[in-house]
Amino acid sequence: MTKEILSYLLSPVSRASFLDEYYEKKHLLIKDRSADYYNNILTLEDIDDYFHQGHIRPRDVLVTNNHNSTLSKWAQLQDNGQLEVNKESIIKSLYKGDSVVLNFVEEYIPKVNRFAKKLSRDLNCQVKAGIFITPPDAQGFIRHVDYFDIFILQIHGSKKWKLFDGPKELIDHSIVFEDSESFNIEEKEIELKRGDLLYIPRGIGHSAHSTEDVSIHVSFGLFPVRWLDIFRIALDKSFSEGSIRGSFMNWNNTDDNVGKEIEEIKTILNKRIDALSEEEILSIAEELKAKKLNKDYENRLMDYVGHHTINSDSIVSCQDDLILTNDEDGHFCVVQTPKNETFAYPIFAKDTLESILSSKTLKVKDIAGNLDLKNTIKFVKKMIAEGLISIVK
Ligand SMILES: [Fe+2]
Repeated sequence: MTKEILSYLLSPVSRASFLDEYYEKKHLLIKDRSADYYNNILTLEDIDDYFHQGHIRPRDVLVTNNHNSTLSKWAQLQDNGQLEVNKESIIKSLYKGDSVVLNFVEEYIPKVNRFAKKLSRDLNCQVKAGIFITPPDAQGFIRHVDYFDIFILQIHGSKKWKLFDGPKELIDHSIVFEDSESFNIEEKEIELKRGDLLYIPRGIGHSAHSTEDVSIHVSFGLFPVRWLDIFRIALDKSFSEGSIRGSFMNWNNTDDNVGKEIEEIKTILNKRIDALSEEEILSIAEELKAKKLNKDYENRLMDYVGHHTINSDSIVSCQDDLILTNDEDGHFCVVQTPKNETFAYPIFAKDTLESILSSKTLKVKDIAGNLDLKNTIKFVKKMIAEGLISIVK
């Protein structure tokens, strides 16, 4: 199912051609789909319900007009010193022509949460969602770049987008740029209508202006594990030798020692990079991925409800990337999660654990090992309670 979500979002462009030709390279526009194409992801009614029922925190909102935003437009200081969102002020701001952004809605709107989770799995990255409500003939933000790739799904009305080349390929927060100098004047104009999709890689400049109707879009931002993150951790983890904790002695020195010291540093770095194994890089990447995926508490309540009725025909699946080892004395075996939580089990359950961890999904009665069926069911229930396996059906 998770592999189908990107295909649904991008249809008729295939998942493979998106990843090959567009992802992190250039924008993609998909038009002429039915107006209610996103009804399973977000509707106007869902937003209205959230606004009506949701407890909205100040960090979840931004009221803006051409990049000008003042906290007093959406939140007020209470007598107890806490900031509280004033929903009436937000609605009044819309009537005055300000745009409203509702951030982190993947945490609050169940349909958006489910979609973000699937997209997160499909692309192996964290996914955050924001809703942008723009009055007719208005603009919330001036030309800018975002530090993350975005999918823009037009939910209501239409909006005209301008895209600019530059300023920097795959920009991140560490790169500072001056707006006026950094963009190429080449620009593309795109009109997004209800049901349309626009993908913009990070680093592409953009601005958007609504047309004669109110425009509402939801934007899904992607936060992947980057090579840079892997490099940083790989290098960080590697340096245990005492020599690298020495001081750099040759500040502003021009004699031969400068070259010698720099050569030594380069030698140590090269040695370390050469020594990196494939397993080490993969394990760092997996550890980072586990922290990124939108799956905290996924299915935990459903598993609680279902675990009472587990039987030999129930199908369960175990979490991705669990590692099974023995403890030092060999009395226990230990399951380690990608988040570095550990769970100890008696050594006689090792075959059972190996069987569970070796297949993605399996029937309870097909679990191998020394335990009889009654104890296997007990064991499965324990692992469900610990959040290590989940009930499929
Ligand atoms: Fe943006």
